[in-house]
Amino acid sequence: MTEHNLGKWHHIFDGHGKTFTINGQQIAMFSIDGELFAFDDVCPHVGASLGSGKLEGKLVTCPAHDWQFDVTNGECISVDRCDDGCYVDTYPVKIENDEIILSLPS
Ligand code: FES
Repeated sequence: MTEHNLGKWHHIFDGHGKTFTINGQQIAMFSIDGELFAFDDVCPHVGASLGSGKLEGKLVTCPAHDWQFDVTNGECISVDRCDDGCYVDTYPVKIENDEIILSLPS
């Protein structure tokens, strides 16, 4: 894993998503009660940005066709539309010295 410093964490507000591009990879990030969650931004359906989706509780709704994902583990809960086992990859993220540190596979 390689750590990436993404800047000040307070630029991500609770309940709102933010997207980052790191070495060409799109990453979505949400804050829930001050805890950060990071996962692939590209929806596995047809590629809309999950980071621009609406967050309710720990579920983000894809803005294109309303599939829902649990931001804490990446699992798709729209089982009626998504094949069993559909998910987005999640990544470790922490706050150090008021800055976001995201770990991605090397
Ligand atoms: S692109 Fe996300 S549900 Fe269709």
